[in-house]
Amino acid sequence: MPITTCVFDAYGTLFDVSAAARQAAAETDHREFAARWQQIAVDWRLKQLQYSWLRAVTDTHDDFWQVTQDGLDWALEAAGLQEDQALRQRLLDLYWELSAYPEVSDMLARLKGSGFATAILSNGSPRMLEGAVRSSGLEEMLDHVLSVESVGVFKPHRSVYDLVGKKMGCKPAEVLFVSSNGWDAAASSGYGFNTAWVNRAGEPVDRLPWRPDEILNDLSGIPALAARL
Ligand code: LAC
Repeated sequence: MPITTCVFDAYGTLFDVSAAARQAAAETDHREFAARWQQIAVDWRLKQLQYSWLRAVTDTHDDFWQVTQDGLDWALEAAGLQEDQALRQRLLDLYWELSAYPEVSDMLARLKGSGFATAILSNGSPRMLEGAVRSSGLEEMLDHVLSVESVGVFKPHRSVYDLVGKKMGCKPAEVLFVSSNGWDAAASSGYGFNTAWVNRAGEPVDRLPWRPDEILNDLSGIPALAARL
């Protein structure tokens, strides 16, 4: 069945999750943070994701903004920077306007030009996603922005992937789902989507019951892949 619909994970896939920490590190009033920002950014992301999975399996959902703050608080304490409230606030403010990766705008324009439907499917809350989409100027290139908040559980719960068919009226076999999170690309393959894992860092494939169908270095090959499938 040909692809009609291209759906993207948001954080780490369209939007650069390290951008907030990188920008704060470049600002002269965060010198201690600047020395350790890369480890803090890794810890922040890992804890944010772990808390999302733990909330999903224990049926204790709260929105992605809560787990984003909780992950940051863990990472700042691990670095001994938990007293720096100005730094904490600056990092959280920057998270609302993360930059998109450089190829995103052109890639989405090419998909729209070829007649594909486009969407985000993300753990992010509707307000977080609205902020990121607006600050990156992607509003016109996305037909839908789908948040897990309408089902109240995080990815990779199947009810999240169900949102695509429910809101966009397509079958899983018509969907190309694109994620930079190996676990998300794998689980959505198990769900029945065609999948592409964007593996910018050259990481090993996750050891899970499913594998992504395609592995790309960045998003620039997505329009050709969607046309070929
Ligand atoms: C998202 C997270 C998983 O956007 O990156 O859903």
